[in-house]
Amino acid sequence: MRHLIDPMDISMTELKDLLDLAEEIIKKKEDFNQVCKGKILGTLFYEPSTRTRLSFEAAMLRLGGSVIGFSDAGVSSAIKGESIPDTIRTVSSYVDIIAMRHPKEGAPKLASYYSFVPIINAGDGGHYHPTQTLTDILTIRLKKGQLSNLTIGLCGDLKFGRTVHSLIKSMSSYGNKFILISPQELQIPQYIKMELFNKNSSFMEVESLEDVIDKLDILYMTRVQRERFFNEEDYIRLKDSYILDKEKLKLARKDLCILHPLPRVNEISYEVDDDPRACYFEQVKYGMYIRMALILRLLGVM
Ligand code: NCD
Repeated sequence: MRHLIDPMDISMTELKDLLDLAEEIIKKKEDFNQVCKGKILGTLFYEPSTRTRLSFEAAMLRLGGSVIGFSDAGVSSAIKGESIPDTIRTVSSYVDIIAMRHPKEGAPKLASYYSFVPIINAGDGGHYHPTQTLTDILTIRLKKGQLSNLTIGLCGDLKFGRTVHSLIKSMSSYGNKFILISPQELQIPQYIKMELFNKNSSFMEVESLEDVIDKLDILYMTRVQRERFFNEEDYIRLKDSYILDKEKLKLARKDLCILHPLPRVNEISYEVDDDPRACYFEQVKYGMYIRMALILRLLGVM
């Protein structure tokens, strides 16, 4: 039985296979609409979500399967004090595969020790978010036609942003350059820097987006993660560190690809949405297709 907890749980060969399958699903949707008939996905979301949960659910429904779950820990027995192992032993007796989001780093890994079915980490605290990374990588491949030799700028809250941590971990295997743009207090954690060192990836840390925007193939904007701050004053001081607007985009390349895992708060002005370089709403759509591919492979139905 396979789980997806850490972005590195998927090898480069498996990743290529998943991306190919997602592209095939995009082309021939109707061929896949019954393949998970009789299968059930459980969505256990102990933290808020719009895209991740609904794209998982839409993915399973589009494969012909069904979905049960909760989107708020407050309506589950967690509120009565039930432990993750007990909840998982229960839910995995009912369903065939589980997508789980939790505010505590490592919770999906713990779940995987007790589950009778595959567990997918749908985001664990400020740690990882591997299916957002699959989404990002599919988008990059479709928009850029390559996964290597790219200069990737990651901008915003690199400290608490789990999507950034996962994306760096995966994309550093492909020989890309990283420009890490953040205020000093929101720089990427040491364990992610070690990933970059270990893979001999070239990277630099800067504070100004304007100084580097002209060098980028990909600009990955992120929200400042309010819920992970220890005090509100720090959040208020840092929340508007970066705002991508039309003026700044004048400095960027014509073929820049702007990504964002969403939700957006202030970091991309609405005026940017009409720019052909804004790819974040397409990215949302690809998230559903790559999750369809992932469900199929983890269930071993195709
Ligand atoms: C991200 C997350 O939950 O980490 N959202 C998502 O899943 N698309 C990003 C965020 O919340 O800022």
